[in-house]
Amino acid sequence: MTANAPQDTTSTDNDGAARTPVTVLGLGRMGRALAEAFLRAGHPTTVWNRTAAKAEPLAAQGAVIAATPAEAVAAAPLVVVCVADHASVRATLDAAGTALDGRTVANLTSGSSGEARETAAAAARHGATYLGGAVMAVPETVGTAAAMLVFSGPRADYDRHEPVLRSLGAGTSHLGDDHGLVSLNEMAVLSVMWNLLNGFLHGAALLGAAGVGAAAFAPLAKVSAETVADWLPAYAQQIDDGAYPVLDAAIDQQRHTMRELVGESAALGVSTELPALVLALADRASAAGRGGDGYAALIEQFRKPSEG
Ligand SMILES: NC(=O)c1ccc[n+]([C@@H]2O[C@H](COP(=O)([O-])OP(=O)(O)OC[C@H]3O[C@@H](n4cnc5c(N)ncnc54)[C@H](OP(=O)(O)O)[C@@H]3O)[C@@H](O)[C@H]2O)c1
Repeated sequence: MTANAPQDTTSTDNDGAARTPVTVLGLGRMGRALAEAFLRAGHPTTVWNRTAAKAEPLAAQGAVIAATPAEAVAAAPLVVVCVADHASVRATLDAAGTALDGRTVANLTSGSSGEARETAAAAARHGATYLGGAVMAVPETVGTAAAMLVFSGPRADYDRHEPVLRSLGAGTSHLGDDHGLVSLNEMAVLSVMWNLLNGFLHGAALLGAAGVGAAAFAPLAKVSAETVADWLPAYAQQIDDGAYPVLDAAIDQQRHTMRELVGESAALGVSTELPALVLALADRASAAGRGGDGYAALIEQFRKPSEG
């Protein structure tokens, strides 16, 4: 225990629920939602934001406004950070300096796994333990059963702060001890999100070229996305097994339709980039002897580094 280590200031209200102080650094769209969820759960909440005016509305909800990161950090054993990027997190932690000694930093700022490990090292230099975190939700759902938050870092640190962190969403969970693991999961989820959305946007562009509005396409696209989502557990099993029996259509069969999609796009004057990429991956899988396998065999192409 260091001289600066936070006291256990957890109190218990009449209803028996623990009220543990927490600090929130960064009050953008997400940071504000996080602070409001802690306040709704009854945790004494101290807040700081680089632009001080953004903190003022939270005072009316019971938050204590700190003038500096150091003052904010001194108020609680758990410091939740949510700012624009990891460089801003490290700048804010550096500004807090020795006040961080003995605290746990739970960082909910998006970034790569390398950035997360660098930020964990910065926290350690100031004497703080570190939990990487990600909010898999929009600000409006933070603090509700619909919000999923994931954390990684030493299990003991997560367990100590889990009762407070759970105020942010019912789906709060720990993924593993590696500080960067949660960031890697967030990147993987963003890959799913952008590729799904790109598929929808390309489809909408195709139909739009024929005068069909995106709103008319949306119900069919939604059913397609849900159908594909149902395939994921079986695909995951094949990827982990390294064997790809055909579940729907073999890659060589699908390549024919992929070529049709590239041709349809070109004929309608729509970008061919996305379907051409899909076809190129399938062609490479076929050339590698996977043409008779199921679509999950494309994982072997994604595992290779890009050329050039
Ligand atoms: N919004 C979402 O739906 C959502 C969902 C999941 C995850 N996230 C993640 O949450 C994080 C924050 O997103 P947001 O939507 O809250 O962004 P935002 O509304 O743009 O807020 C950005 C925050 O970062 C602060 N900031 C920027 N540069 C700073 C610096 N150098 N030093 C200290 N503070 C700095 C800003 O302070 P000022 O007010 O002074 O500019 C503001 O508080 C991002 O990593 C984002 O990917 C957001």
